[in-house]
Amino acid sequence: MSNPKISMEELVSYAKRRGFVFQASEIYGGISGMYDFGPYGVELKNNLKKLWWKEMVYTNENITGLDSAIIQSPKVWEASGHVERFSDPMIDCKACKKRFRADKLADIDSVDIDELNSKLIDIVCPNCEEHDWTEIRHFNLLMKTFLGPIEDSSATAYLRGETCQGIYTNFNNVRETTRAKLPFGVAQIGKAFRNEITPGDFLFRQREFEQAEMQMFVEPDNAKEVFESWKQRRMQWHQSFLQKDNLRFREHGENERAHYAKDAWDIEYNFPFGFKEMEGIHNRGDWDLGRHSKYSGQKLEYFNEESKEHTLPWVVETSVGVDRLFLAALVDAYTEEEVNDDKRVVMKFDPRIAPVKVAILPLSKKPELSGIAHEIFSSIAGEYNVEYDETQSIGKRYRRQDEIGTPYCVTVDFESLEDKAVTVRDRDTMAQERIKIEELKSYLDEKLK
Ligand code: GAP
Repeated sequence: MSNPKISMEELVSYAKRRGFVFQASEIYGGISGMYDFGPYGVELKNNLKKLWWKEMVYTNENITGLDSAIIQSPKVWEASGHVERFSDPMIDCKACKKRFRADKLADIDSVDIDELNSKLIDIVCPNCEEHDWTEIRHFNLLMKTFLGPIEDSSATAYLRGETCQGIYTNFNNVRETTRAKLPFGVAQIGKAFRNEITPGDFLFRQREFEQAEMQMFVEPDNAKEVFESWKQRRMQWHQSFLQKDNLRFREHGENERAHYAKDAWDIEYNFPFGFKEMEGIHNRGDWDLGRHSKYSGQKLEYFNEESKEHTLPWVVETSVGVDRLFLAALVDAYTEEEVNDDKRVVMKFDPRIAPVKVAILPLSKKPELSGIAHEIFSSIAGEYNVEYDETQSIGKRYRRQDEIGTPYCVTVDFESLEDKAVTVRDRDTMAQERIKIEELKSYLDEKLK
C-alpha cells in the first residue's frame, strides 16, 4: 500500500508554500525534471548530506572523501559502459505521439525486450487509449555537452551520469596519498545528470539530481561479506531518522541489474506513489577498475605487501539519491493533528535534519523586547540555523514554525525583562518551560545534540 499520509499534489503545494522546493525557471513556465531548493529546502538538504558524510566518512577509519569534476574525459564513459549500455527502453504511441518508458508502462522491473513486448500486447496508451505502438528502442540517458567553441563530435563531453566514476579514476591518487590498505572506501556527494525519458513524481525522477555515493574497494574474496554488512548498515542509518515501517529491501532480478552489477539490492521507501527505490547497494565486482585499467592503460591495482601479490580490487557501492531522501524526509515528517478542534500541521523532523533548529519570537515589537530578543538571537546563532520572527500573533507564529518543523520556539515576553528568563516551547509535545536566558544556549545545545 502506498503512504496514505499526504497526496503528491498536496506535498508539492506544501513544499512550495513553505519555501522548500520551487519549480526551476518557474517564471518562464518551468523546465521538465529540474527543481530549485528554497530557504528551508537548502537547509534540509544540507543537513541530510551532513548526516550522511558523518556516517560514511567521519565514523569510519578507512573511508575518506572526494570531490571530483562533473565533466570528465569522454573516455571515462566509454570505459564505464555508459556510452554503450546506459539506456532505458522507450516506446512511442503512433496515434497520439506520446513517448513512454516501456518498463514503466508494462509495470515490470525488467529491460528485456521480449518480456516487455509480451506485456505490452495487452496495454493501451494511457493518454489516448489506442493500441498502436512503435518498436521498443533503447534511449541513452547520458547528457551531452560540447567543450570549447566547436560543436562537433571531437568536442563532445558528458555531464556525469553517476558520481562514482570520478572515484574509480582517482583510485591510485587516493590510495597513494592516504596510504590506504584494502578494504578502504571513498565517499562523494554531488550532482548527476540523466536525460530521463519521462521525469516525474516531483523530486523522484529528475534530469538533474544529487547522489551520495561510497565505493568500498575490497579483496575479491571479501566482497560478499562487505556487501552484506553495508546493506545492513545503510538500512540502520535510514531507520535512525525515518519510520521503520516505511522502509524495506528489494533484490534486483537478473534482467534488471545494471551492466556493472553482480548483485544489487534497493532500500525502498514508501512514497505516496508506493514503495520505490531510494538507495542502491551494489556489488560491482572488478568491472570498474578492470575497464578503466584497460581503457586508460594505467594499472589500477593493489599490491599486498604481505602476500606480495597484485589484486584488482572489487567494488561494493552504496548509492543514495539525496533528492529521494529529501522527499522521503518530507513525507515521513508530515503530520496532521487535532488540537482544540483545529487541525495542526507539524513536520516532525528529527532535530538533526530540521531546517530551522530554534525560532526566537518576541511577544511584541516594542524596542525593550526586541532588544533582548536580538541579543538572544546573537548569543545562540552561528552553530545552527536560528530564525527571528516578530510578525503576526504568537499563535500564528507557532503554527508557521510547526509547519517547517522547528523543534524549539523561544518566546520573549515582558516578564523576561524582570525574571531574565524565556519560554521554550517543544514542537512535538507543545509543552512550555521557563528557562533562564543565561542557561538557554546550553539547554538548547543539550536538546539538539
Ligand atoms: N552509481 C550507481 C548508480 O548510479 P542508480 O541506481 O542508477 O545507481 C543511485 O542510482 C540512486 O540515485 C538511486 O537509488 C536514486 O536514489 C538516485 N537516482 C537515480 N536516478 C535518479 C533520478 N532520475 N532522479 C533522482 N534520483 C535519482
